[in-house]
Amino acid sequence: MKGIVLAGGSGTRLFPLTSAMSKQLLPVYNKPMVYYPLSVLMLAGIRDILLISAPDAVPVMRSLLGDGSRLGLNLSYAVQEEPRGIAEALLIGADHIDGDASALVLGDNVFHGTGFPELLRRSRDRLDGCVLFGSPVPDPERYGIAEVDSTGRVVSLEEKPRQPRSHTAITGLYLYDHEAVDIARGITPSPRGELEITDVNLEYLRRGRVTLTELGRGSAWFDCGTHDSLLAAGQYVQYVEQYEGESVACLEEVALRMGFIDVDACHRLGAGMRQSTYGRHLTRIARTPD
Ligand code: TTP
Repeated sequence: MKGIVLAGGSGTRLFPLTSAMSKQLLPVYNKPMVYYPLSVLMLAGIRDILLISAPDAVPVMRSLLGDGSRLGLNLSYAVQEEPRGIAEALLIGADHIDGDASALVLGDNVFHGTGFPELLRRSRDRLDGCVLFGSPVPDPERYGIAEVDSTGRVVSLEEKPRQPRSHTAITGLYLYDHEAVDIARGITPSPRGELEITDVNLEYLRRGRVTLTELGRGSAWFDCGTHDSLLAAGQYVQYVEQYEGESVACLEEVALRMGFIDVDACHRLGAGMRQSTYGRHLTRIARTPD
């Protein structure tokens, strides 16, 4: 399975924070936002990852993450010239996906929970068509919303509905089989000129091949698109890291735990940042990996 992090967009709801700066490079507590979605793909066991961003942000992302080899990844980069919709990621990433299954994650989404890595791996192993991840929200008018019948089957998907049929938001993580690129090629742009990911998901729904995985209790999901959700995500990460003693989206630690790098590499990476608590955490776990 190939991974894509889509980290472009306009970020207008975060102005002036994003007037001169890519949203996905803003800090969420102690690390750049893009670390969080990248960690999700790594936890799913994906090492071939394409990062798509705006023309001015790609060079900065590249200097932040390089070719990924220090994390045991194969990272490549592509530009989205204009924010022409989330589904455009499947077209920009068509060569990268190269007929394989894919996992697309939005660059401003933060996922965390004790059962989340296991949920991801199970969803990947059982992929048949498309897997969407749902999370309950109090304000469904702001999201893509899924309606599920009593047997757990998805019966409708609606983008920002005026009269929502449920409170289950579709989060920014999508697992697709090899057909996603062809489906994305067949959809027509919305009146705003965007290729909507909901239209790709609706095509899978028409084919009866959508599974909804509910994130459930004990899981947290933030989209960091507004000042309040950005701050809430940062406060959540601070709480988990300081009071529960667990790190969130610490890429070097994820790479170590997934077997992408060894303890020596993890220690070296930590030692290079030993002035920060992040770096000291890495040298500590490298000494006592379990
Ligand atoms: P949004 O939050 O819907 O859009 P945005 O980031 O442009 O922000 P705003 O509404 O404040 O102007 O996008 C969700 C995520 O998808 C975000 O990480 C940006 C990304 N995205 C792209 O990279 N390209 C696109 O064409 C679109 C629509 C979104």
